[in-house]
Amino acid sequence: MRLLTGHARLAGVLGWPVSHSRSPRLHGHWLATLGIDGAYLPLPVHPDRFATAVRALADLGFRGANVTIPHKLAAFEVCDVVDATARRAGAVNTLVFRDGRIEGSNTDGYGFLESVKDQAPGWQPGAGPAVLLGAGGAARAIAAALIDAGCPRVTLVNRSRHKAEALAGDLGGPVAVADAPPLEDAALLVNTTSLGMVGHPPLEVDLAPLGAGAVVSDIVYVPLETPLLAAARARGLRAVDGLGMLLHQARPGFEAWFGAAPVVDAALREVVAADI
Ligand code: ATR
Repeated sequence: MRLLTGHARLAGVLGWPVSHSRSPRLHGHWLATLGIDGAYLPLPVHPDRFATAVRALADLGFRGANVTIPHKLAAFEVCDVVDATARRAGAVNTLVFRDGRIEGSNTDGYGFLESVKDQAPGWQPGAGPAVLLGAGGAARAIAAALIDAGCPRVTLVNRSRHKAEALAGDLGGPVAVADAPPLEDAALLVNTTSLGMVGHPPLEVDLAPLGAGAVVSDIVYVPLETPLLAAARARGLRAVDGLGMLLHQARPGFEAWFGAAPVVDAALREVVAADI
């Protein structure tokens, strides 16, 4: 067992509740395999105490923290400085305490793009239009990342059309809203809703209009192989699961806090997906 010294670097994940989070296992695996003198802790914090807790972590010498449900909007407010992606998303998932300041970023969209590049080699954001199902927080982060990376058009399709329209207005850029997914010329289809997750209804979408080169992605990762991904593979399309986004969004924070570049590989997937 690796023992901590007095120099140990500390980070963690703030959530309420936080017991479901896979991040301690994910960062713990990287700390162990890289032999780093550090620890990454689950930090359950009630929403009423969030800002106080963040400042206390900084005072305690933590290097930073991840932020998960329900704190991503409050995290944006508590930061002294945020990066451009976090500003576009209006939400922060990664905090770095540096030079007496609280710095915020949003790596969810980055994690999504890296995961698609990883699991569908050859795809890149400029490959063609993207269609996003849903208009919640995940859709916001993914759409922002796609636009920033040069995707020619992002179409939002959501049960509540007014939310998609509001999101399109916030995002700016080449964003459209539709009632039915325009799949004929889509290079990428992404499910950002909870449909298809264990305990939720399945997602009903006819993949027939998609071209042979299209990539289908799901942010749901319980189960890993959702009905949407299974349907895509059955048609010979490339499918990208939701676990990759979770793994890749963690990389920038780890690097900032612990000073080493971690890798997303089969061993990590196995550790994090062990009980899915
Ligand atoms: P997240 O932050 O993970 O994106 P969210 O903000 O709660 O979660 O967004 C959930 C998304 O899933 C929304 O787009 C929601 O549609 P509405 O805006 O109409 O609520 C979508 N969603 C959830 N359950 C759904 C269902 N049964 N059918 C269709 N869409 C659903």
